[in-house]
Amino acid sequence: MKLWTGRFEKEIAKETNDFNSSISFDKRMYNEDIMGSMAHATMLVAQGIIDKADGAEILAGLEGILSDIDSGKLEIDPSAEDIHTFVEAELTKRIGDAGKKLHTGRSRNDQVALDIRLTLRKETEKVQVLLENLINTINKKADEHENTIMPGYTHLQRAQPITFKKHLGAYSEMFRRDLDRLNDAKKRMNFSPLGAGALAGTTYPTDRMLVAKALDFDGICENTLDAVSDRDFCIELANALSIIMMHLSRFSEEIILWCSWEFKFVELDDAYSTGSSIMPQKKNPDIPELVRGKSGRVFGDLLTLLTVMKGLPLAYNKDMQEDKEAIFDAFDTVEMCLTAFTPMLATMTVNKENMRNAAAKGFINATDCADYLTKKGLPFRDAYKATGELVALCIKTDQTLETLPLEKYREVCDLFDKDVYDAINLETCVKNRK
Ligand code: ARG
Repeated sequence: MKLWTGRFEKEIAKETNDFNSSISFDKRMYNEDIMGSMAHATMLVAQGIIDKADGAEILAGLEGILSDIDSGKLEIDPSAEDIHTFVEAELTKRIGDAGKKLHTGRSRNDQVALDIRLTLRKETEKVQVLLENLINTINKKADEHENTIMPGYTHLQRAQPITFKKHLGAYSEMFRRDLDRLNDAKKRMNFSPLGAGALAGTTYPTDRMLVAKALDFDGICENTLDAVSDRDFCIELANALSIIMMHLSRFSEEIILWCSWEFKFVELDDAYSTGSSIMPQKKNPDIPELVRGKSGRVFGDLLTLLTVMKGLPLAYNKDMQEDKEAIFDAFDTVEMCLTAFTPMLATMTVNKENMRNAAAKGFINATDCADYLTKKGLPFRDAYKATGELVALCIKTDQTLETLPLEKYREVCDLFDKDVYDAINLETCVKNRK
């Protein structure tokens, strides 16, 4: 039986119900739906819209439903139209006529807009905790590698020496900004749509601020059409989540490279690696690979939301029911990725020697060699050219700048002295950089 019987002469077709129903994915909002209803009922009583006795019955009934769903005693009917319908019908089943008064001055349109905001607020806070955890893990690892020298890259070619601490620190900054982005989106989202009704507000003397305060909102959505019909907060969050995934994916890509025999800069803990079913020697970085792969899902969720919303006339349209699967998937994916990624990173061991050896090859101190000449008065472009000649000589004679004898330096430029070896020492190079 549907809530909206009365106008209709026929029962709904099974195909319509199956197609229309959102219960399979909006049932996860049952807690928020019930909390919203409680705040709404409390306000109806406070404003004298329903009497105290009905209000008390509604609150007790809702509490019972909540604890019964929590404990598994009450199963959410998979053929219900949506979670709002299910809870209201269950309430009326339990308390009778008083239950029919709950929806006074409310529409499912403002109800769903409320539920999704409450749900996403909670999910956002979960991701923020996970992100903070990741940032702490990165920083802790970074501090262990203040003196670990590695090649810094551009174009994936060895460029200049850096420390592993500095490399990790870059990711820490990125995730810090991601945290800010979530905070920002949360701030903008945190306004209550309840009281907007279907689209035009209600004729009852409701108190929207009372409900907003009870549910910990910073205020109310001022325009009732906007309150029920925008999902920009979902899009903003999906955007912030996409950027998190993009950052995680880049980090993953590097870890995958570093695990390879070609790099061997790091090794993942056995507990966070997987093997091959045929090649006994293999130890695969499945976690970072999956994280890299899952970034595509989240980017897809963002595009889904943008596309769902782009052509909708004001105010509510059923298309908007498509918001939930996309944004929930984005949150679930990011939460899952962060949950696996952080302990993987925490237990990852670093092969300092290999990093140092890689930094010692590839002439990554060539810029410092040129800077040495510049500091002795040679114009930078000439110093650059002289150093280039030295590098070419080293390549031809299978040497490095560190092993090349001083007389070879002097043949190219007589400004070179013994102290050049100190100037091109990797530790000096790293230390001298501002
Ligand atoms: N399940 C619907 C949704 O997720 C709830 C709102 C229904 N409103 C309506 N007017 N049919 O959007």
